[in-house]
Amino acid sequence: MLRGQVREAVLHGSHSGANAVLVSELNFKSKEEVREVAEVFRKAFSPELPEKPALYAWLDTVESYKTAKAQNGSAFVCRRNGRIIGAAFGKLHDPLEHSLEACKKLGPGKHYYLVGLAVDPAFQRQKIATMLTRKRLAHARKLGCAAVYSYTYAERKPKVAQFEKEGFTRFHTEPTKEGTRVYYKKTL
Ligand SMILES: CC(C)(COP(=O)(O)OP(=O)(O)OC[C@H]1O[C@@H](n2cnc3c(N)ncnc32)[C@H](O)[C@@H]1OP(=O)(O)O)[C@@H](O)C(=O)NCCC(=O)NCCS
Repeated sequence: MLRGQVREAVLHGSHSGANAVLVSELNFKSKEEVREVAEVFRKAFSPELPEKPALYAWLDTVESYKTAKAQNGSAFVCRRNGRIIGAAFGKLHDPLEHSLEACKKLGPGKHYYLVGLAVDPAFQRQKIATMLTRKRLAHARKLGCAAVYSYTYAERKPKVAQFEKEGFTRFHTEPTKEGTRVYYKKTL
């Protein structure tokens, strides 16, 4: 385990170490790691996107999360046998990113926005997203947030199912040109 890098080890299924799944912070220092994360996003979103964005576009997306991390955001990756198989990001609520209606319904208190999540399709349905989400919830709690929230599209059934399984409640729905945007929140 690298010093200062791995914050928590989560053994998944096996205690032998062979199939150990580790959740750690992404520090953005290694270009190779950032590339691996971009590759996970590319693989996870490819089935649903008619135009397949190239890896460099995903690299830009992942790089953009660096700013959030620098401002008390969170960036976590999940590794299996050293290889990154899932990643998730989050940051404090920024009203400029959401519609007024959604923001009004968030209510008072500090809120944490879960901003990006992807799991390599070869490792889905193994609770990787669940682990990454719980890590972000713990981070938000440490920052004194009242609740976490996020949105997806109603058409993204696995993500909707994952929110609901984790006890998030839907608090706002709005039509957009990308699809029906559904907002979920969870009180901490
Ligand atoms: C959504 C996503 C992150 C879920 O990752 P995952 O690691 O497979 O999710 P988990 O194993 O933690 O699933 C937890 C629960 O969510 C629900 N769920 C997850 N995937 C599901 C699917 N394909 N169909 C139905 N329910 C699903 C289930 O209730 C599941 O619990 P169960 O396996 O005990 O039934 C993954 O499918 C993904 O990367 N999708 C593409 C990218 C994406 O949509 N990201 C979110 C953008 S808003």
